[in-house]
Amino acid sequence: MSEPIKHYLQFSDFTADEYAYLFERAALIKRKFKAYEKHHTLSDRTLAMVFEKASTRTRVSFEAGMYQLGGSVVHLTSGDSQLGRSEPIEDTARVISRMTDAVMIRTFEQARIARFAEYSRVPVINGLTNEYHPCQILADIFTYIEHRGSIAGKTVAWIGDGNNMANTWAQAAALLGFTLRVSTPHGYEVDTELAALDGSSRGWQNFNDPMAACEGADLVTTDVWTSMGYEAENDARKKAFADWCVDADMMAVAKPDALFMHCLPAHRGEEVTAEVIDGPQSVVWDEAENRMHAQKALLEYLLRGRLA
Ligand code: CP
Ligand code: NVA
Repeated sequence: MSEPIKHYLQFSDFTADEYAYLFERAALIKRKFKAYEKHHTLSDRTLAMVFEKASTRTRVSFEAGMYQLGGSVVHLTSGDSQLGRSEPIEDTARVISRMTDAVMIRTFEQARIARFAEYSRVPVINGLTNEYHPCQILADIFTYIEHRGSIAGKTVAWIGDGNNMANTWAQAAALLGFTLRVSTPHGYEVDTELAALDGSSRGWQNFNDPMAACEGADLVTTDVWTSMGYEAENDARKKAFADWCVDADMMAVAKPDALFMHCLPAHRGEEVTAEVIDGPQSVVWDEAENRMHAQKALLEYLLRGRLA
């Protein structure tokens, strides 16, 4: 019997050991890329990228990364494919996965990507759903390790919405052994079931006061107040989140060498001040670049397993 196909639909799909491998591999791939050394481990392979929501970083990082690995990409959106004309996701999955070697999808409900994966012959990667954004946290933790070493035992403060990023950070905390402090306005808390690793291992603590969540933190991170798909709630969210803006006072109570991260796109003056995101503790540009290096390691691993 053939091995089951490995997908990457949420952070908890991999073990801590697999993450240790991926972080090392991403570092090697990044080093080689910076040194202009060829690294064509996926020659002749094709990645299909399906976007049902907008993207800058996810598209560029997967597309550039796949070419750098010797492969190529096909880019689809709901607007320019039959997905927008109600072709069932199951049929789309069957067809795309007969012609390509991996599929990255950015969509709405997690159930939609899970259904795609069920009917796919090739690995499926979550490029963001309403519930999770695992490729981003893969890159974020890789970035943390580059700057400060292992994240195990460290404290991460999540300030803002209990959204796809927060759920994914919570899964990562339980899996990789760091503490996540989550501070959200009332009514925007993380969903306990989505954020837990296996329904039981809880990797986060809730804080009503964002300042208290930041106290002594090694990393302070946030995200937009209104995620894609929730635009109708924008006005209500602007009011509810007014005190959840990461500013210099919050950074001042974190550790003196604390880092600031944001998956981007950012709204300066809403979830973060310009002073913080453009300041010396911010590593947001490294974080964005590392999407590409980390995802190259992920693509290689899903298609070929561990390479020497
Ligand atoms: N951080 C992130 O996923 O960015 P994009 O929406 O631009 O892909
Ligand atoms: N939480 C944001 C992340 C964007 C990369 C969203 O889902 O829109």
